[in-house]
Amino acid sequence: MRIKTIFATLSLLGLSIAISPQFWWDLSNCLFIFFNPYTILEKHFPYLRDEVLRLNSSISRLPSWRLLLLFSTVGYLLHALSIFLFETKLTLKERFIHTFFYCVRNAPFIKTYIKTEMDKAKILVEGSFASVNCPRKNHALPKNGLSRDEILTECEAHAKMGDGNWRRGQVSGAVYIYNPDHKQVLEDVYSKFAETNPLHPDVFPGVRKMDAEIVSMCLNMYHGFNGECGATTSGGTESILMAMKAYREIGYSKGIKYPEIIVAISAHSAFMKAANYFGMRAIRVKVDKNFALDVKAFEKAINSNTVVLVASAPSYPHGIIDAVGDVAKLGLKYNVGVHVDCCLGGFLIPFMEEAGYPIPMVDFRVDGVTSISCDTHKYGYGPKGCSVIMYKDDKLRMNQYFIDTDWSGGIYASPAIAGSRSGAVLACTWAAMMHVGREGYVERTREIIAVREETEKQVRNIPELIVYGNPTVSVLAIGSKTLDIFNIADLLTKMGWHLNILQFPGAFHICFTAMHIGKNIPERFITDLKKCVEAAQDTNGSLNGAGSIYGTTMQIPDRSLVGEVTTTYLNSLYKV
Ligand SMILES: Cc1ncc(COP(=O)(O)O)c(C=O)c1O
Repeated sequence: MRIKTIFATLSLLGLSIAISPQFWWDLSNCLFIFFNPYTILEKHFPYLRDEVLRLNSSISRLPSWRLLLLFSTVGYLLHALSIFLFETKLTLKERFIHTFFYCVRNAPFIKTYIKTEMDKAKILVEGSFASVNCPRKNHALPKNGLSRDEILTECEAHAKMGDGNWRRGQVSGAVYIYNPDHKQVLEDVYSKFAETNPLHPDVFPGVRKMDAEIVSMCLNMYHGFNGECGATTSGGTESILMAMKAYREIGYSKGIKYPEIIVAISAHSAFMKAANYFGMRAIRVKVDKNFALDVKAFEKAINSNTVVLVASAPSYPHGIIDAVGDVAKLGLKYNVGVHVDCCLGGFLIPFMEEAGYPIPMVDFRVDGVTSISCDTHKYGYGPKGCSVIMYKDDKLRMNQYFIDTDWSGGIYASPAIAGSRSGAVLACTWAAMMHVGREGYVERTREIIAVREETEKQVRNIPELIVYGNPTVSVLAIGSKTLDIFNIADLLTKMGWHLNILQFPGAFHICFTAMHIGKNIPERFITDLKKCVEAAQDTNGSLNGAGSIYGTTMQIPDRSLVGEVTTTYLNSLYKV
């Protein structure tokens, strides 16, 4: 920032000299009476003295139009340099790395080699979606609509695609509950609200009320009793996007051009997405040896562009609850916002104490916490497509709103990203929360954490494996110092487990949900895990699964190549 100011001042100086060289010449002569730079120059840099004097006398001999041209060019160049150095979204280091890899990638021999390898990787990625038990493919609308029976038959076939192992508790996260009674309630509620759209609260006042009650119940869970407020969104990512947008507006109002978000490397990628979408910068800070946010490193990263600090409770990769209290203190000290990402643990964290697993406070009781995201569509057991973003006060919340007062279609206002949305999803979320109730959530929290605890204990007894950090909630991240952990992950996949691969350092995690309660999961998982650990002693990472792909991509320093393969993955999602 200091350098930036110097550049701005020099640019201004250059420009003003360009406007009136005579004025500055006279002024500098006056100043020399009190402060003679030549004396200083002679004393400290005698070897430069003659050069400067020569330059000075040649400049003073220049005709005024040349002086004007010279100084305006200098002023312009300084200004351009200052923009190049400071006024971009990417840091200088990032731009240097991009340029460096761009040059390497396009060198003649390297280019051909990379292309061959990339094509191989792309074929591998595309192949991962080859459908098994695939029903009839539909590339275009059927000429005549199908009957109800035909639709249901086709849907049945689609529902049967895949191994269905999620029902047996062999999937990490993804599905949070599968209970016939719960499902029936949501199905019944859905059918009552299938046509509704909360964009029209006058038409659907009941949906508006349910929407408000979802937010209110969450505020209650997070001790938001002093003017705290919130809104529903379509999911954790949107809740995070909305909060970051709100902080961006606060930054803009303070004159910050590129407001910065500070996150630990363990924070969810949604914060990078927010930075990307909203023209902000996200500074990723290292974690400590227990994979928790490093408060000292965080403080060092704070600067005059910082608008928000982010803590996770818990983090997605390793299930660690960050030191929210310490981050909140930093927020107060530097007068910046503090967002607590409770997306994953939204409906576990508030019940942990009652479930017999007390944790430090992470909610609005902590002075300095200014927003919290909490997903109803995870452990809230509501349908996918709903989350809640909560704020310390409505001054902050209004910064997430979009209002267009001048549209010919009328005054348009929406609290979050969506325009029209499903009232049925809100109604089902409301129903799920009301159906499970506080006691229900406490009970499930207790059971889920018990499964994680038991599994963790047994993993710690396997000498080849390590557990990352000290998880306290529902996620267990497993690595190895002696074996190829990606190979173990691929072997587990072959045995029907769907786990999540982690990188930097390489690991996989299992996120326990209500799907893992009462299914003998610790035993079943540990038995299979032990078999895979044994098999991994003889196999060396050539199973072509997601694990081995990660094993390869983690070694590639040019992340844009990894990005290219990932684009193929996204493209493949839309191949019929
Ligand atoms: C900690 C954390 N934050 C945010 C998110 C994003 O939530 P969603 O996938 O609903 O957008 C997740 C998802 O797993 C998460 O674990």
